[in-house]
Amino acid sequence: MKRRTSVIAIDGPAASGKSSTAQMVADKLGFLHVDSGSLYRAATAAILRREHDPSRWTEQTVLDAARPVELCAARTSFYPVLEGKAIEEEIRSADVTRHVSRVAQMPRVREWVNEKVRDAASSRNVVVDGRDMGTVVFPDAELKIFLVADSRERALRRLRQTGTPTSEQLLDDETIRIKERDARDAKQTVPAEDAVTIDTTALTQAEQVAQIVALSKERAE
Ligand code: DC
Repeated sequence: MKRRTSVIAIDGPAASGKSSTAQMVADKLGFLHVDSGSLYRAATAAILRREHDPSRWTEQTVLDAARPVELCAARTSFYPVLEGKAIEEEIRSADVTRHVSRVAQMPRVREWVNEKVRDAASSRNVVVDGRDMGTVVFPDAELKIFLVADSRERALRRLRQTGTPTSEQLLDDETIRIKERDARDAKQTVPAEDAVTIDTTALTQAEQVAQIVALSKERAE
């Protein structure tokens, strides 16, 4: 059945600015933002609460732990809730970041995330961000964007975001971590054939947002 709501899909590698850009685009258009990565993170946080040793995780135990996670709508975005509580801080912890790629490789966990994101988009106009939103989850999205940026620029943004004072050494270390994450997530991080690729290395956030909003208005006409 054809969806009656609008979907803008924003994909790209780690720290390419997808989530903050998606939120700002959603705010400008009056859509809700869905961060699909937050669900992979929520599943990881949920299994970490039950079993701290990742070598004992199986796809089934991760799924069982993830089942109670809900995606709730707030004024401007959907956010994951576990046992009645928002878990934003927990899902951004270093522990979750370390293990989430492994959870994101599990096919049934991917199905679980995709179903939740599609469900959110069935009732509201959304801007969704992730890795495979334009390829796998919403091949029929009105607009597909693939954001890329130089790995060193992404490392710099990540350090600034966490408030870490930057030094050449820290920047080198963070660039290596970003490249490692790129390699781990490479399989599912590919642009859709009909995606518009935007290189944000030399763009401000406001410029990226303006480009995407302009494209979405063009498509709507
Ligand atoms: O964007 P992020 O760092 O919050 O994503 C967390 C992890 O989930 C990362 O390993 C990539 C993965 N992910 C994915 O495989 N597919 C998505 N649609 C979103 C995230």
